[in-house]
Order: sequence, then C-alpha cells, then structure tokens
Amino acid sequence: MTSSASESSDDPTAAGWIAVVGLGPGRPEWLVPEAATYLAEATDFVGYHTYLAMVPAALRHGQVVHGSDNREEIDRARFALQLASEGRRVAVISSGDPGVFAMASALFEAQTDDQVQPQWAALDIIVVPGITAALATAARVGAPLGHDWCTISLSDNLKPWSIIEKRLGHALAADFVLALYNPVSRRRPTQLAAAFEIIRAHRDLSTPIVLGRDVARPDEHIEIVELGGVDLGRCDMRTVILVGSSTTRIDDLGGRRRVFTPRTYPLT
Ligand SMILES: C[S@@+](CC[C@H](N)C(=O)[O-])C[C@H]1O[C@@H](n2cnc3c(N)ncnc32)[C@H](O)[C@@H]1O
Repeated sequence: MTSSASESSDDPTAAGWIAVVGLGPGRPEWLVPEAATYLAEATDFVGYHTYLAMVPAALRHGQVVHGSDNREEIDRARFALQLASEGRRVAVISSGDPGVFAMASALFEAQTDDQVQPQWAALDIIVVPGITAALATAARVGAPLGHDWCTISLSDNLKPWSIIEKRLGHALAADFVLALYNPVSRRRPTQLAAAFEIIRAHRDLSTPIVLGRDVARPDEHIEIVELGGVDLGRCDMRTVILVGSSTTRIDDLGGRRRVFTPRTYPLT
C-alpha cells in the first residue's frame, strides 16, 4: 500500500488498498480534504446504507456500492478486507470519525482475529479522520468541551449495561463534561431515562444540556436547556447529548444563547 490515494491510483499494477473514511457529521464542507481524495479514488464503497447515501455526489463516479445493515460490522469488515486483497481500492464509509464507535476498530478486529485470512495480513488499514458528532455539536453552540470531557455510548449492544452505569457514575463523579452517543433506539427504549437518573444524582438541575440532532445536516435541530427542563422524548439515534460539568455555563449575552466550559478549574 502506498502512502496516498493518488500514488496508488497512478500505478495500474498497484495492489488494492483499504481506507476507512470519516465523512464528518454531514455537510460536505466539514469533510476533510484527504477523505475526499480517498473517496474519489476508490473503486468500491462499503458501508451502512444510510452512511453510503451521505457520500457527496461530487465524489461519486461509478464506484461499486456495497451496502449492508448497521449491525453487521464484522462481516462488513471481512468483506472489505477481502475486496482489497483482491486488488480493489476500497473506501469503508463511516459517519463522523471512523475511530469513534465506528468501522475502524471493526477492521482491525477482523484483520487480527483467529480466523484471519493470510492475504489480509499485508493490508495497511488507512484511517482517514473526520469531525465527530460531539465536536460538531460543540462548535454549533460555543465551547462546551473546552475543559476535560469524555464520550460514552449508551448502547448496550456491544457491552453490558452494568459497565455503562459504572462509567457514567465515575465520569460524573470526576466532573467531566459528557458526550453521550447512541442515546436511545427502538430496541433500547429505557436506557436513556436510566442514564439521566444517574446524571441527576451527580449534577445540579441547572447543569447545561445540549441536544444536537442531525447536526450539520439539512434537518439540524439543536437545543440548549438545563438538566431540570430536559425533554428526553426529543432524543433519538440521530442525537448526541452533551452534559455540562459543574463549571459549564449557559450565556445569553447579546441575545445569543451559547454554552461554554471555562479553561480554568477552581481549586477544590
Ligand atoms: C454509531 S455512532 C457513530 C459516531 C460517528 N462515528 C461519529 O464520530 O460521530 C452513532 C451516534 O453518533 C451520533 N451522531 C452521529 N452523527 C450525528 C449528527 N450529525 N448529529 C447528531 N448526532 C450524531 C448519534 O449519537 C448517533 O446515535
């Protein structure tokens, strides 16, 4: 594998390559230039149907598109590795950043697991970063992630709920700002309310909460509320939730509602 997409495509004898590409949250302007290069030079796109539909039209030129369901990550990763080992130039598509609750880990898992195909071992998995949902949402409302913060997925599809409860409790006790991904789905209707019970046990009811839905997409909707007034019914799988720390503030200066977390932390 060569070091860039353009070097690969210039050489007709070049081996296939595999790049896992982050599209960013949605707007083409928030897709990094290197991602555009890999997308344009790929022969094949592999990914979840919804994310494949988000590839900007300007970067499509007849690539073979292999869509699959959202819950088939390891099979999709094996399929992509196999295609690349056969000489195809494969872009595996993720939304946001491919290393954040997305396909980059699945590719490394598939490449290194016990059943690994010898022909996959030589492939250099290229990770092309993207703007993750938490950073996109933060940019829309101010600077809520300006001090220490952490991300937690509320999905218990791939980890037990007991671990999620434990991590939430510790992160809240340590006074991190939280970015909560995968907050709720039809298959997981109760976890979000349970998570907010833990949050209310650790945070004042005036704590700023940001609900970012479809951020940087045409239907973007962002709400800044206090913990005491949050309506969890407004959250779905297209929402990321930011929970302030004890120092995060809402500011209405000049009639513009902004949220920020100061860079300094008071002595305790
Ligand atoms: C499987 S994770 C993928 C995260 C993605 N790799 C990223 O870095 O943003 C899916 C979750 O990301 C969040 N998400 C992704 N894109 C979003 C967007 N544009 N607006 C709001 N939330 C988003 C939601 O919490 C959603 O349930």
